[in-house]
Amino acid sequence: MSESITEKKKVLSCIQPSGMLTLGNYLGALKNWLAMQEEFDCTYAVADLHAITVRQEPAKFRSQIYSTCALLLALGLDPIKSTLFVQSHIPEHSQLSWLLSCYTQFGELSRMTQFKEKSQKHADNVNVGLFSYPVLMASDILLYKPDFVPVGADQKQHLEIARDIAMRFNRVYGDVFTIPEPYIPKIGARVMSLQDPAKKMSKSDDNINSFVAILDDRDSIIRKFKRAVTDSDSVVRVSEEKAGVSNLIGIYSAVTGKTASEVEREFEGKGYGEFKLAVGEAVADELAPIKERYEKIIADKAEIERIFKEGDEKAERIARKTYFKAMKKVGFVL
Ligand code: TRP
Repeated sequence: MSESITEKKKVLSCIQPSGMLTLGNYLGALKNWLAMQEEFDCTYAVADLHAITVRQEPAKFRSQIYSTCALLLALGLDPIKSTLFVQSHIPEHSQLSWLLSCYTQFGELSRMTQFKEKSQKHADNVNVGLFSYPVLMASDILLYKPDFVPVGADQKQHLEIARDIAMRFNRVYGDVFTIPEPYIPKIGARVMSLQDPAKKMSKSDDNINSFVAILDDRDSIIRKFKRAVTDSDSVVRVSEEKAGVSNLIGIYSAVTGKTASEVEREFEGKGYGEFKLAVGEAVADELAPIKERYEKIIADKAEIERIFKEGDEKAERIARKTYFKAMKKVGFVL
């Protein structure tokens, strides 16, 4: 008993290796992943299986799996403190996903907002994987019995269905899965598109000026902020009618640690030109050392493989235990 009092709470999260990660991923989620390493026992995975719900070009996909790992390490993910692994390396994710799909209703998956959106966007490829995506995500989570799962607004519905599936299973078979809570980060900004502040900043946006990639070079970062959409007055102030400017203030606050009102004061009487340049420079300064570390890490693929092999082993031990327990409860002969 005394052991469980001192044990750290567990956290699990995953990120897809689809395309380059953006400033939005960094400020909205990843910065928080890093902060959580101190307080929690964290498990983080590259969700490569989820990525193939939309078509991937093999060579590019493969290199994105490496680069996502490298970037997480460059950001400061510590593979000794935390577990970093690759989802597809642990077969229990797919296996538990099948089991749980038999405890998930067609109707509840049909109501998932992301499924509805993605099946419109990729109307020529509404595959079954896209539909059952939340079940795989539930498996990612439930295998590791986390107390908390940090998720952005767009994944909240998926976490809820994971909780529903877990509770349903536990009601029938007893206490197999831990019911995870969403983790609402203390820090973390919702970063919007620089070209259309009504939309979330996204790496899959066709307009490259709408997002800043973590690995963008200094000049591109500053240029993208210069071109950011604002409005026709020239007051640096947070307001619902000033979505573009509010977004830039949010970014500047997240990077500098200044509060929104401190930022408003700093730019009082100054124009948007000066403000946008300051935001661009602050972001470039924050991202430069990350890019530098990334270049070193990505140059050594063998070291990346060594790191995720270690992570895979740690993950596998836990995943296997949970998976077998669930199978046994259902009545399979093991
Ligand atoms: N679906 C998530 C996303 O696209 C990624 C993900 C996969 C995930 N499995 C997860 C997030 C488990 C949290 C927990 O952002």
